[in-house]
Amino acid sequence: MARPTARYVCQSCGAVTPKWAGKCESCGGWNTIVEEAVEQRPGPAGKAAVGGRRVALVPLKGSSEPAPRTPIGIAEFDRVLGGGLVPASVLLLGGDPGIGKSTILLQAAARLAGSGAKVLYISGEEAIEQVRLRALRLGVADAPLSLASATALRDIATTLEGERDIGLVVIDSIQTVWLDTLDSAPGTVAQVRACAAELIRLAKSRGFALVLVGHVTKEGALAGPRVLEHMVDAVLYFEGERGHAFRILRGVKNRFGATDEIGVFEMTGHGLEEVANPSALFLAERRGHVSGSAVFAGVEGTRPVLVEVQALLAPSAGGSPRRAVIGWDSGRLSMLLAVLETRCGLSLAGADVYLNVAGGFRVTEPAADLAVAAALASAAADRPTDAAMVFFGEVGLSGEVRMVAQAEARLKEAAKLGFSAAALPRRVGGNGRALALPEGLAAWEVGHLSDLVARLSGDRPSGQGRSRGERRAVASQEGAG
Ligand code: TYD
Ligand code: MG
Repeated sequence: MARPTARYVCQSCGAVTPKWAGKCESCGGWNTIVEEAVEQRPGPAGKAAVGGRRVALVPLKGSSEPAPRTPIGIAEFDRVLGGGLVPASVLLLGGDPGIGKSTILLQAAARLAGSGAKVLYISGEEAIEQVRLRALRLGVADAPLSLASATALRDIATTLEGERDIGLVVIDSIQTVWLDTLDSAPGTVAQVRACAAELIRLAKSRGFALVLVGHVTKEGALAGPRVLEHMVDAVLYFEGERGHAFRILRGVKNRFGATDEIGVFEMTGHGLEEVANPSALFLAERRGHVSGSAVFAGVEGTRPVLVEVQALLAPSAGGSPRRAVIGWDSGRLSMLLAVLETRCGLSLAGADVYLNVAGGFRVTEPAADLAVAAALASAAADRPTDAAMVFFGEVGLSGEVRMVAQAEARLKEAAKLGFSAAALPRRVGGNGRALALPEGLAAWEVGHLSDLVARLSGDRPSGQGRSRGERRAVASQEGAG
């Protein structure tokens, strides 16, 4: 039987079907399936894989050294990478178009080139002049960087083969690179996969670090690219809200380091600047003594980040009330509303609920539950929360407040930024060890969510006297008000 010459590939999840369909059965995407020519593999088809070379089998135990690193010199970037670039490793940088991927990579490439490494920046999206103009704007025009504008994989591979001692190659972007043996258009799954495979092979055999830029589709998947995610050593996303200046570099996969680290940058007129103290940035525009606002003491990776959670309740116009969330999980909000109603007697069923994490930051931790509940309860009571207090803790379905990881780091950051109180779960961790409180910070242990609701609505929390430190915190709040 003749082999089929075409197959149908979903451009969003990479699923392959023998027939075209309007909807992908695998990911549910509409109009994502595209016909692609089947790659004709050389060599005998259908034969069992015989005649190979025997590979050596070794015991698991043995000597191995940690991966060597080349720090880029941009601390926020290096932290996400786990200390720097690993030679012969491949990094995929994803993000929405226009978010600043080319900008950060040009800055990183220039910095690395300035420290003596041989760096090649290959742009398939922009002409040489455009890249030069950007370099001028970024103030890195003098960096000893080798620049090329190319899209044909054959040309790029030949160029790379001809260079010696390359440290880093940046391909901006993988969606523009194409291989002439494939019929599909650049940017399709087949092209992206084949081109990436070839570039990765080169990086591994020649020992240079490779950075591939990948655009993200509107659903948030890298175009072509769950197919790419498993092929590369590390995947970073560059995120940010349009209209906000700050950008976050987030690790989602890293074979050589932790994945939950973030790097924070601010987009300025002359490129991306590192933000060493993100909490101060996120809280910069906060106005104290407004109801519906609470400061969440969060942790991203090893890094504490304080952000403001805002809630607004508006009378519902009838029908089912609106639940609009920016920067948090809407399912989690529904759960919290149900707990507030059922366990704490705070009914918001007749109100539209708007929840916003200020500054465009996206919070993924369950530890934000208590801060969100505080913002909601404060909005419902129309009474501000303590402006000098931070909140963290996970809320369970019975309304109990649970301990979360890295409480000490959260408290330290809050104290550093001048907060004098923290609402948190009972301070005994699983190991029975009490938490140490930083100097000047009072703790209010919230055992059950109803205590929080009672306090924010003006009642005394039931069955729980205030500690001396807490009284101090309350006094300072009343003094400030
Ligand atoms: P860019 O790096 O081209 O985004 P991507 O490669 O992810 O598509 O960044 C484009 C945006 O960044 C553009 O809207 C302008 C803005 N920008 C600045 O604000 N300041 C700068 O110094 C630079 C170079 C870009
Ligand atoms: Mg770009």
